[in-house]
Amino acid sequence: MGRVIYQVYPRSFADSNGDGVGDIPGITAKLDHLAWLGIDTVWTSPTFPSPNVDWGYDVADYRDVHPELGTLADLDQLIAEASSRRIETWLDLVPNHTSDRHPWFTDRPEYYVWSDTIPNDWQSVFTMDTAWEHDARRKRYYLHQFAVEQPDLDWWNLDVRREFEEILRFWWDRGVTGFRIDVAHALIKDRELRDGVEYLRDRPEVHKIYKRWQEIASEYDPKPTLMGETYVPLDHLLAYYANLDLAQNFDFVRSELDIDELRPIVEKTLEKLPPGRSALWFGSNHDHARLATRWGGGDERKARAALFLILTLPGTAILYQGDEIALEDGDVPADRILDVADPPRDPERTPMPWTRGGDEWKRPWLPLGSTARNVEEQSADPGSTLHYVRDLIARRKLFSDDSYETLKSAKGVWAYRRGDATCVLNLTGKTAAHGGLMLEPWQGLILST
Ligand code: GLC
Ligand code: CA
Repeated sequence: MGRVIYQVYPRSFADSNGDGVGDIPGITAKLDHLAWLGIDTVWTSPTFPSPNVDWGYDVADYRDVHPELGTLADLDQLIAEASSRRIETWLDLVPNHTSDRHPWFTDRPEYYVWSDTIPNDWQSVFTMDTAWEHDARRKRYYLHQFAVEQPDLDWWNLDVRREFEEILRFWWDRGVTGFRIDVAHALIKDRELRDGVEYLRDRPEVHKIYKRWQEIASEYDPKPTLMGETYVPLDHLLAYYANLDLAQNFDFVRSELDIDELRPIVEKTLEKLPPGRSALWFGSNHDHARLATRWGGGDERKARAALFLILTLPGTAILYQGDEIALEDGDVPADRILDVADPPRDPERTPMPWTRGGDEWKRPWLPLGSTARNVEEQSADPGSTLHYVRDLIARRKLFSDDSYETLKSAKGVWAYRRGDATCVLNLTGKTAAHGGLMLEPWQGLILST
């Protein structure tokens, strides 16, 4: 059965020194809890030095740790202590762009994408305005798909490729066993810079980059995992599986919690997945409203239904920190908004409530939301969502294989065979029947393992 990956958003996970910013020693301190939950892998959002225009996704040095988050020694310790609990540590690599404060932007301008004039209609994801910025130093325009302070690298330049190959080795040599690859679908742009978003992202040449990365990964034992943030429609997603071990499925995330939307996506994904590859399911991350809000609307039963699906479908599952307690988005007043994007992503990035009192967060960088759902109380309550998730993780390990078959069921009920077990999920707000069983609204059941 595929692994359970736990995404940590480090600034908001656990603060070890009371400065209001979560940090790497904070993650290490919570490893016993994560091991208890049963996860296999911790993936942390970027931990590299960053001016934090885009909160770590603007990297100034790919070989170090941002001082607020700790030191390289702290990261080594996290890797070692996680590994002693049989938990892997994955980092978040940002190869599409750097920070404009990365020394390359000054010393190696040829690493970036330039043009004498604004050459096309490409737009920045954040500003929705032209993705080209005039640079007074070079008297030319550079490309930035995201913020102005995030210049895009030129992946036609073989030196850029060599730099990243060394960066991969740097971390794999240190015991990191996987990467989530930020903006994995968009590293390489049309060489002629033609008009149209189809020339900016999802270019066929990108796959060759990952082919090479897999060759390097194969030199390691066990082979590190490559997981792409692949913002492409499902029809294109499967192509990424040629060279990535895992490709994030955004059609799934962006659906309603509705059987008629989700089931066809799941069936199509599983049908088209290349042999030997693992599907990947998740419902929240640091860019999307948390599933307990977006799918649950606050109703914990709906959050559990979504978690049931993510954890019982064949393949790999990602839990975003807080999903396991059905944590909802935080309320972030206008004067506390820190994100560059509009609408801001701060509500899904608020601190993790470990206790009802919330004293573990002193003047946190983003406001602590409701602590009504918190780890301490749910740990002590066998009927809590936290225990529900822990039980599902334990039970998924008993599925005999990765097979899946849709079974006949009543409207709104999703029934599927998983090896020698059957999963039944009522995705409606009414009681429903299945094979002589009564299911409560939003209830999921695993039968006969
Ligand atoms: C990815 C990250 C997001 C970031 C963007 C630019 O989509 O998940 O948080 O803003 O890339 O790096
Ligand atoms: Ca701290």
